[in-house]
Amino acid sequence: MKDSTRSISRSIALTKRAEAVIPGVAQLISRRPRRAASGVSPAFAERAKGCRIWDVDGHEYVDWTSGVGPIILGYADDVVDEAVKEQISKGSIYSILHESEVELAEELVKLIPSAEMVRFAKGGGEACAIAVRIARGVTGRDKVLFSGYHGWHDWYLAANLSPSSLDNHLFPGIEPIGVPRALEGTAMPFEYDNLNMLEDLLKANDGEVACIIMEPMRSEIPSEGYLQGVRDLATKHAVALIFDEVSSGFRIALGGVQEYAGVTPDMSVFAKAISNGYPMAAVVGSREFMAPAKQMFISSAYWDDTIGVTAALTTLKELQRRDAVAHIAHVGVQFKERINRAAEHTGLNAACYGIAAHPGIRFSLEDSTKQKVVQTLFVQENAKNGIILSAGSFFNCSHDDEALDLTEEAVRKSFAVIRQGLDTDTLEDLLEAEIQQDLFRRMVR
Ligand SMILES: Cc1ncc(COP(=O)(O)O)c(C=O)c1O
Repeated sequence: MKDSTRSISRSIALTKRAEAVIPGVAQLISRRPRRAASGVSPAFAERAKGCRIWDVDGHEYVDWTSGVGPIILGYADDVVDEAVKEQISKGSIYSILHESEVELAEELVKLIPSAEMVRFAKGGGEACAIAVRIARGVTGRDKVLFSGYHGWHDWYLAANLSPSSLDNHLFPGIEPIGVPRALEGTAMPFEYDNLNMLEDLLKANDGEVACIIMEPMRSEIPSEGYLQGVRDLATKHAVALIFDEVSSGFRIALGGVQEYAGVTPDMSVFAKAISNGYPMAAVVGSREFMAPAKQMFISSAYWDDTIGVTAALTTLKELQRRDAVAHIAHVGVQFKERINRAAEHTGLNAACYGIAAHPGIRFSLEDSTKQKVVQTLFVQENAKNGIILSAGSFFNCSHDDEALDLTEEAVRKSFAVIRQGLDTDTLEDLLEAEIQQDLFRRMVR
């Protein structure tokens, strides 16, 4: 039911202003208002603290997306922010080096199984591009086999120069506009949890593959032995194995999925949660793969700015001090239980599935064409009930029982509206928002 007292008029006005000057409105596709419940869910934030966001129209929300991954301690974390402010007062960047970057590299070597040497960057996609460059440089080969999402760079988007390669890894219909045609055939996707397909690709491109880059896990644990099987294939074919832990890093184990699964890649990429919301990324790997990077031209002015480095160092220390992995697992178990209880209570065929550290929510519908309307309604009703929640979530150390209680209550109400829409065939009538555009599909579940 439409709530005439609730308005997000300022969010709507800002979206219009943005449309005129920012192509696509947002820098991150996942932050585009049209990918939420446009017209109802908040598009612009005013501030955030802990696990809560206040939008520009004065509404408060419990947020389950944690900045789409970067927030792991909580928004505006006092300890990280104080450390950053203190560092800013001494200068954010210099014409010479600063000790903190050596310290951060040493800390990552201590925490991450695959790390013997480290390079820094600012974004996850950028760090993936560095890892791929290093793999190509070390092996002297060009082709890349990948599984998952790895950013926006040419090496990756080149996959779509061959028809529809990214349809199941991102979302359908991404045209590789602006990507040089000469890169066609250099990046090939493989299906997650399918060792035979990976082996066939390695055989078909024997002696030409530089690396396998993959998200080692998202929401579901792969078949027993899968990641070790990938490791064995990479070793057998003398191909570098890169784990992209941009989204998984620090959540299921401090050393990433590689620590949790006991499988060590040659290189790995970390970003997002590494620094609790300040831009920072790292490519780590064995000495064999990383040391040759000193001869490659991989260089940028801001990669070692002391703000990102200090934020990362402080975040890593706080993650250990607060036992973040245990907290996130606890929140995840509670979250799953409560969403599933809400589904049971309302009789809606919905489920919260997957590992506690990063579960997903799915709706099983008899008519699959209604999927997008249902997902939009879910985001719409959640926003009206004071939570920012869609099908996927990232937990942080500030999510607490109060947030969980409020969320269970809100989701119950949202599920009840969807159930009513399904039962009475009035889903579209209940929609106040624009129907959402395709969300990211994940090959890695
Ligand atoms: C696994 C993975 N790799 C790479 C990226 C790209 O990172 P960024 O958006 O920081 O460039 C993301 C972002 O969602 C990601 O989840």
